[in-house]
Amino acid sequence: MKEERRGPIVTLDGPAGSGKSSTAKAVAARLGFRHLDSGALYRALTFALLESGVPEERWTGLTEADLLALEVSVEPTETGFDVLVAGRAVGDELRSQRVTSRVARLASLRASRACLMALQRAAGAHGRLVADGRDMGSVVFPDAEVKVYLVADLTERARRRLRDEGVRVPTDRDVAAQSGVIAERDRHDSEREFSPLRKPEASHLIDTTRLSFENQVKSIVSLVDRLTPP
Ligand code: C5P
Repeated sequence: MKEERRGPIVTLDGPAGSGKSSTAKAVAARLGFRHLDSGALYRALTFALLESGVPEERWTGLTEADLLALEVSVEPTETGFDVLVAGRAVGDELRSQRVTSRVARLASLRASRACLMALQRAAGAHGRLVADGRDMGSVVFPDAEVKVYLVADLTERARRRLRDEGVRVPTDRDVAAQSGVIAERDRHDSEREFSPLRKPEASHLIDTTRLSFENQVKSIVSLVDRLTPP
């Protein structure tokens, strides 16, 4: 697989709110690579399942074929991938509360991991990809040239999430409530049997709690630059 690549794969894994997606997007833009947001795929699968009306108590019995029938796919763009459900581009729906509160449950099922594997690997077949998620470096792209594991303090991650949601000056109460929600999703993602959230072997640990966004991006770009000496 590696021989056919035209460039490296960079993986960014980490818990919710660690800044993976925004960092991955900026790193990809600097390098001229495509960005793959794998969380968006799990969100799309959750959205499609909710739309299809399958009751949640039946999700654990779903097979890979059931999930493939929901037709989650991606279409390459210049900078990344559009996520489609049954041929229709989905965007804001993926970040809704309805999806966010259920995605970790669906992502814990073996069928959902299997269903999205080929799609993710196809996105990286030619390299020049920055992929972010929970198992990019450990399971989906174990031979990635650069692996990064991003972490940040829970309260800082909660503040970032609230800021993303438009809460400019969150109260202590807002932060405590959001911390609880994030901690619960982390627990789900770390304790599951299939593809649990783990620091991949040989990955670079970057704590973003007190790091500026620009420095986060620079430090990852420099890891990639070091791969190919001028
Ligand atoms: O990154 P984001 O918060 O959008 O991910 C949503 C959820 O999708 C995560 O909480 C996790 O349950 C799941 N996920 C996963 N594996 C990935 C990416 C996301 O299990 N590679």
